[in-house]
Amino acid sequence: MTSHAVFPEASTDAPLTFSTFRSGFPALATQTYLSICDKMILHRRVRSSVEAFLDHLELASANRVQHEVQVASSRRKFAKLMNVAPDTIAAIRNVSDGTNSIAWAFPWESGDNVVLTSDCEHPNNVYPWLRQRQRGLEVRVVDPMPDGSIDIDGLISAMDARTRLMTVASATFAPGHRTDLRKLGEACRKRDVFLLVDGVQTAGIMHHDLSAEMVDGFATSVSKGLLGLYGYGFLYVSPKWIDRLKPAYLSRPAIIQKTDDHSTMGGFDYEYQPDSRRFEVGSFNLAGAYAADASLDMLLELGTVNIEAHVLQLIGKFHDGLCGLGMTPAVPGRGPKQSHIVTLGALNAGGHGFSTDPLIQPLSEHLVERKVAHTIRRGQLRFGLHGYNNEADIDAALDAVRDGLRMIKGVAAI
Ligand SMILES: Cc1ncc(COP(=O)(O)O)c(C=O)c1O
Repeated sequence: MTSHAVFPEASTDAPLTFSTFRSGFPALATQTYLSICDKMILHRRVRSSVEAFLDHLELASANRVQHEVQVASSRRKFAKLMNVAPDTIAAIRNVSDGTNSIAWAFPWESGDNVVLTSDCEHPNNVYPWLRQRQRGLEVRVVDPMPDGSIDIDGLISAMDARTRLMTVASATFAPGHRTDLRKLGEACRKRDVFLLVDGVQTAGIMHHDLSAEMVDGFATSVSKGLLGLYGYGFLYVSPKWIDRLKPAYLSRPAIIQKTDDHSTMGGFDYEYQPDSRRFEVGSFNLAGAYAADASLDMLLELGTVNIEAHVLQLIGKFHDGLCGLGMTPAVPGRGPKQSHIVTLGALNAGGHGFSTDPLIQPLSEHLVERKVAHTIRRGQLRFGLHGYNNEADIDAALDAVRDGLRMIKGVAAI
């Protein structure tokens, strides 16, 4: 197998600490990576797991059923991370796959409605609902709060007797506020409304307990905080809803098997799997499963309670430092609305990758020169942290921001 010894790593047998976890990411040797809300970075253990898959392909040394052990194992590990039963998890491709699956599986009646906050949601959790208008669904859009966060009370009061589903992001991709899922979950449960969460921004970084949060569906890819590859993800569906949901796509994994022969049908009558496997379609992204199986091992070993605490402590320091430089982050820095994301600049002053704010665009360019990885979303300069970040990263980012501001404003006193 190819060796990629570009960065020293502690033995894989040693218990994982934040420091040994960090040492497995080659990207961190060359940059200050504060861009998890855009995409993952590859840990060497994840790379090794994918290479094991490629070695099998190269040598034709395993068959599909043997590879699918990794799918089952990654499902189980994700279920453990989210505190739900393994059979409530389907292996899917990405958030869009999960949200569209639920949208088409739902037995809408004309005049039913879905409640969401379009301005706070990623387009991939808005288009699936607009498409359902052709099936008679009303899309109820609730404005965000003045600070750009999701209006929890507004969403709750927008529900009526015809509301069947509410959908929210667990944290918005910008400005990055965390959503109070438990409050929404409680309100939805009382009304038998399905609470669907786009969880890609927080999964693997912020702690989730989907049972306690009373979430009915949770869709995520593993391409951000779950530290896997693009094109693999998970959909949780609560057992309470399973019998009412009939997915639009149907292939062998979704039905109860009457025969072990993969190419024979067990007749024209079929029954859906009694659990979330009914949402699985055709062959799996096996490279994605190998990657997720390895990254989930590390996330489980560190524990999301600990990862969240570690990240929020760094966020607090970062927030204070930015305020000390005269900046006003868009998210509060502490408290229930704070996630792993920090944003700067006016919301919607610009768009994806650019800002019209005279400070933000040159500051971003300076950060690129200083190798502080970040993104601009909805015109805001955006940073995202994970368990591999440390105090030195925060110091490096603050130094770069300070120098950038001096350069832009020409103020020596900053
Ligand atoms: C909140 C949120 N939802 C969804 C996505 C992407 O959706 P998908 O996994 O379908 O590509 C992103 C990507 O940046 C996101 O931030």
